[in-house]
Amino acid sequence: TRFAAEIPALPYAVNLIHSPSEDALEREGVELLLRHRVRCVEASAFMDLTPHVVRYRVAGLSRTPDGRVHVGHRIVAKVSRAEVAERFMRPAPEAITADLVARGLITAEQAELARRVPMADDVTAEADSGGHTDRRPLTALFPGLLRVRDTVQRELGYGQRIGLGAAGGIGTPRAAAAAFALGADYVVVGSVHQSCLESGTSDAARRLLAGAGLADFEMAPAADMFELGVELQVLKKGTLFPMRAKKLYELYKAYDGVEALPEEARGQLERQVFRRPLEDVWADVEEYFTRRDPDQLLRARQSPRRRMALVFR
Ligand SMILES: Cc1cc2nc3c(=O)[nH]c(=O)nc-3n(C[C@H](O)[C@H](O)[C@H](O)COP(=O)(O)O)c2cc1C
Repeated sequence: TRFAAEIPALPYAVNLIHSPSEDALEREGVELLLRHRVRCVEASAFMDLTPHVVRYRVAGLSRTPDGRVHVGHRIVAKVSRAEVAERFMRPAPEAITADLVARGLITAEQAELARRVPMADDVTAEADSGGHTDRRPLTALFPGLLRVRDTVQRELGYGQRIGLGAAGGIGTPRAAAAAFALGADYVVVGSVHQSCLESGTSDAARRLLAGAGLADFEMAPAADMFELGVELQVLKKGTLFPMRAKKLYELYKAYDGVEALPEEARGQLERQVFRRPLEDVWADVEEYFTRRDPDQLLRARQSPRRRMALVFR
């Protein structure tokens, strides 16, 4: 709403992050994007195409008077694996578009048009980066995706070539130049933004970032994909986050629920990590998911392990 009011004529994109453990979040995210007529989405953390991201893409397709396909919803897919890149470089899978037609979420004509365009207009190769990362070196990842792009382009002969961007570890002008030398059409930066006043990051966090060196980062369990064991890269120096998050994940793997935790482990969590009783944390979880995704609570009521996962997340 703010972008539509404040920058009506300027382009912007909205991030759509895949949510494997919160399907409703992704589905409702797409509904919001459609309702607010968002024209460009950066799709990230996808391991495969979901009906939601396919719906966003295909619901924006229309036929021009001269018979070409107009792409009303642009997608920039940020990926770190060649097989995921290829899914975004190919047309939407027909099994998914057929199901969307049956559910009345796209038209039969849109499903037809979807055969002639890729899922994404641009694909960003995300190498070792802040946040979620597969930790591949850019010099190894980028040429691989370039080859996939060229192969798919030769096979399908799209009128518009898919653009390839580079992300991960780009924080200086020379690093950006290196990415362009590899063949990137554009670059994406993330971590450097966190050090800027405009990011809204707290003074305390920016002070820690300004004092950090190359070796001061570590992998830690990711809250949003906790149960899957997915990790993300965080600042280590000056924070106990990675150690504590790893401890939580170890306990999650070893015990069947909060009730099964040994007294000593539970006491340590309540004193050092949460600094309050776990019952209080659960009360917060209930309040949060009642607002956000009540299905999560239904599933958690039947499983002590799921309850533990929600508390730890
Ligand atoms: C604090 C932080 C939060 C992030 N959150 C998201 C996010 O919500 N969605 C997303 O697609 N990428 C997210 N990223 C990844 C960035 O968009 C970007 O791809 C990545 O940071 C680029 O690598 P770099 O950190 O080495 O510059 C995040 C990165 C950081 C550091």
